[in-house]
Amino acid sequence: MNQAVSFGVQREVQLRFLCPDDIEEVKRLCTEWFPIEYPDSWYQDITSNAKFYSLAATYYSRIIGLIVAEVKSKTKLNREDADILATHYPTSCQVAYILSLGVVDEFRRHGIASLLLDSLLSYLTSRDRYNCKAIYLHVLTTNSAAICFYERRNFQPHSYLPYYYSINSKPHDGYSYVLYINGGQPPWSIYDYLSQCGALLAKIHPCLLSQQILQAVQKWLRRLLSSSSYDSQENHANGFLYFIKRVLQTKKKPTHICLT
Ligand SMILES: CC(C)(COP(=O)(O)OP(=O)(O)OC[C@H]1O[C@@H](n2cnc3c(N)ncnc32)[C@H](O)[C@@H]1OP(=O)(O)O)[C@@H](O)C(=O)NCCC(=O)NCCS
Repeated sequence: MNQAVSFGVQREVQLRFLCPDDIEEVKRLCTEWFPIEYPDSWYQDITSNAKFYSLAATYYSRIIGLIVAEVKSKTKLNREDADILATHYPTSCQVAYILSLGVVDEFRRHGIASLLLDSLLSYLTSRDRYNCKAIYLHVLTTNSAAICFYERRNFQPHSYLPYYYSINSKPHDGYSYVLYINGGQPPWSIYDYLSQCGALLAKIHPCLLSQQILQAVQKWLRRLLSSSSYDSQENHANGFLYFIKRVLQTKKKPTHICLT
């Protein structure tokens, strides 16, 4: 990517909220970007209902990118996403869901999606939104551009969702990704329990046995996972193994966006 070109493009880009007049343009763009068909009511909603954070990036008045997100109570999480937040958070806590993010092909890799996401993040980490503890989304396992984008932006893989999407009547697998904000935390995973047990045992017993057990488990997992990659994502087993690998890798770099 040419950085000078990107700065040039970004200088001319403006951000504004979507309005009902944008419906046809947004419909055209979403049809181009996503293999999923949305009903007309969805387009009406995202362009007029104030519960959506629907932001467009424009270049000389033309929409070249958009992000649509919704802030909702953690009690409104679907079953497959219900374990995004640690259980100790009260029901008054909120989460934000990214329904849509896309950039016109010729403007990709110029930081436009980053601009849109940054804007959403500053809104969600403002003082009034401190109650919002996580931002999450779903993505097709085959959408490597979006996966790279979200991982670059410190989103963590959360769940592997077999048959999550139905595209042209065919099932497709998905992942969910989460970014914890405002001090939000995930529930403990098996890996956290194992690490914590290993650390505790090492403290109680001044011997190397517990550490060796933990290292052996990690080594076994690494060997098991080393064969999985994007190339074989049509296969559920490999999709799942790839997912676990990414989870273990991102465990090494805990990330939080906090109120500044
Ligand atoms: C995913 C998408 C929104 C990214 O938009 P973008 O404006 O190109 O993203 P940015 O320029 O802000 O990218 C920021 C970083 O993300 C990563 N990234 C983005 N696209 C990538 C790609 N195709 N391959 C690898 N990394 C990528 C890079 O690290 C990039 O930084 P760099 O360009 O300095 O290397 C865009 O590809 C898109 O619209 N795809 C189709 C719609 C879609 O799938 N949306 C996601 C639905 S969940």
